[in-house]
Amino acid sequence: MRTAFLASLCGLLFVGTLIVSAQSTVSPVEGTWKTTHTNDDGNTASTVYQFHASDGRLTGQVEVAWGNLSIEQGTISDGRFAFQIHMGESIWKYDGQVKDGNLSITVHDPNMPAATLSATRLTEEQSRFVAIPPPPLHVVPSNGLAKTPLMGWNSWNYFQGRITDAIVRQIADAMVSSGMRDAGYTYINIDDTWEGPRDSSGQLHPNKKFADMKALADYVHARGLKLGLYSSPGTETCAGYPGSYGHEEQDAATFAAWGIDYLKYDWCSAFRLYPDGDMRAIYQRMGDALRKTGRPVVFSISSGGKEHVWTWGRLAGANLWRTTDDINPGWKRIENIGFSQSELAQWSGPGGWNDPDMLEVGNGHLTPDEQRTHMSLWALLAAPLITGNDLRSMSAETAAILTNREVIAIDQDALGVTGRRILQMGLIEVWTKQLANHQLAVGVFNRADHAQVAEFDWNALGLNHPAQARDLWQHKDIPLTGDRFRREIPAHGTVLLRFRP
Ligand code: GLA
Repeated sequence: MRTAFLASLCGLLFVGTLIVSAQSTVSPVEGTWKTTHTNDDGNTASTVYQFHASDGRLTGQVEVAWGNLSIEQGTISDGRFAFQIHMGESIWKYDGQVKDGNLSITVHDPNMPAATLSATRLTEEQSRFVAIPPPPLHVVPSNGLAKTPLMGWNSWNYFQGRITDAIVRQIADAMVSSGMRDAGYTYINIDDTWEGPRDSSGQLHPNKKFADMKALADYVHARGLKLGLYSSPGTETCAGYPGSYGHEEQDAATFAAWGIDYLKYDWCSAFRLYPDGDMRAIYQRMGDALRKTGRPVVFSISSGGKEHVWTWGRLAGANLWRTTDDINPGWKRIENIGFSQSELAQWSGPGGWNDPDMLEVGNGHLTPDEQRTHMSLWALLAAPLITGNDLRSMSAETAAILTNREVIAIDQDALGVTGRRILQMGLIEVWTKQLANHQLAVGVFNRADHAQVAEFDWNALGLNHPAQARDLWQHKDIPLTGDRFRREIPAHGTVLLRFRP
């Protein structure tokens, strides 16, 4: 007891000394620090820390490749510090010490073994990096691609950083054997984590997961498919791999030489170089660079829906632009994204499409009804149908949902009109999409967690006593009588109909 009391008294005295010294001198941790870390793919990524120390508290931020994260619960005492940050839904803890001007920091990522890195101090000049000025705005002429919404597959939703050359080849084979290619899915897109180092001439190479990108493109092309890649206008991609900053024309030429047909270009660390207001000019720079290659390359803007990208994406040379932050395979996220797109309909059409993010059909624990709703809503939205599941092992039910040609035909309709919400009755919603030849697609959705009866007058949709509709999930013509629709719809379920005049 007495010892404990003495110890706490010493502690108090000690803290007292620290406070006095903190008031009179700047803490040695104060300032901007940078760590670099090489991962198993051979990629070197950097993290920048801005530390402020005062009265035993450590505040500031950690700059990762895709944003600034605030330091929480930071403490510093006698050069030893600890803090945490919220990295998406998980908490990463850090601790370390500064001694004789050297700072070491240990990162406790809950999914990885702890790693201790030494940091170097950035001078004020180094922290005040001046970016290449954005080009003056102009309109990038259309590349003539994407007359209907893009269809394909992307590695991110399921594989994230685990994507390899071997998996891409297996996915290409599965695309063919599952009937996906013949249903219209053509692009195989490699998302983040393929990028390797640049050589002394600035030429970008794939990392060791991808031995030969040209050979991989040949393999994919030989199966009647197309190959897509991913980059960023920043120095680093969102996962911390090399971006195209300062190498836009060189990278576009490299991609074209490899035989790449699609580029997803993700804002990520460009936020460190440019204010969001410069986005159009910066995307235009890559739009111009791709055009200059002479190769038809689909250009996809991924910027989390910032800066009303739908109003200018097409002018920057893009064929699709993300309207939202990332999707995940949870019903709530899919529901929030899908049902919030009605207002953006006017901006999407042949050559340039709103992109509410890739499909999660076949991922996570979505019910069959939720998967059909996801697919139906994306089709009504004329959204790109870029699947994100493991095509090598998908269930027959998932394959049937993804290859439902009657639903795909709604998405791919030649008129290129984007559907809108027409009726909202509590958690029942009715969306329509005008189709070519005066036809109409109608989706009736039940967003409730329980079955509900949906009921409304046909004339609320501008339909006059229709005698028949095609049910696109039941694959049958259904006779209609009376002037009202009435049907029980399961929780999170959909009825999708096509009307012919
Ligand atoms: C961002 C994008 C995702 C994916 C990752 C890759 O989060 O929105 O679709 O491309 O980057 O790091």
